[in-house]
Amino acid sequence: MNFEILRIGQRLVRDDRVTTHVALVSRAFGASKIYMNEVNPEIKDTLEKINSTWGGDFEIEFVDDWKKVIKEKKAKSVKIIHLTMYGENINDVESKLQKEDKVLIIVGAKKVPREIYDMADYNVAVGHQPHSEISSLAVVLDRIQKGNQFLAKYENPGRRIIPTKNGKNVVINERMD
Ligand SMILES: C[S@@+](CC[C@H](N)C(=O)[O-])C[C@H]1O[C@@H](n2cnc3c(N)ncnc32)[C@H](O)[C@@H]1O
Repeated sequence: MNFEILRIGQRLVRDDRVTTHVALVSRAFGASKIYMNEVNPEIKDTLEKINSTWGGDFEIEFVDDWKKVIKEKKAKSVKIIHLTMYGENINDVESKLQKEDKVLIIVGAKKVPREIYDMADYNVAVGHQPHSEISSLAVVLDRIQKGNQFLAKYENPGRRIIPTKNGKNVVINERMD
């Protein structure tokens, strides 16, 4: 399955770290790309450094018009999953979501515009209590992929971790580029 993420809105300055973490979770949990608006452009450098150190080609695209992104995805049969505490409980819809082929997952920062609820194919709640876009995204990506995202190999990493019971074991790779 191909996953992309759309993060809408940010509370300027205050949300910089949260925004970075939304992108980090997206990358580490198997998404190929994140679209963002209203963000600090430095986030692109941060994620480029992460790709260079830990591998893969996770992309960030800054967008002005989030509606256009959703419409273009829908035209390509990408299913739109909007994460909101008001939606259907993830426990009830996860099996349907696991069968989808291409998805765009939308998370908000502040109150999201009402029309997103209508544009979405699924409005999904990770429980019906307010928490965060970081946690809700991580849970949904994990439920959809059933943990398999943690087996993924990232292409051409500068460093690779050898899992150990104790301490840190990191291999510095000969770069392919
Ligand atoms: C800090 S919350 C903002 C909540 C905002 N007060 C509202 O009314 O939508 C930011 C984002 O986290 C996600 N989120 C928070 N709690 C959630 C939950 N229980 N289930 C699914 N997504 C959630 C949603 O995508 C939401 O837009």
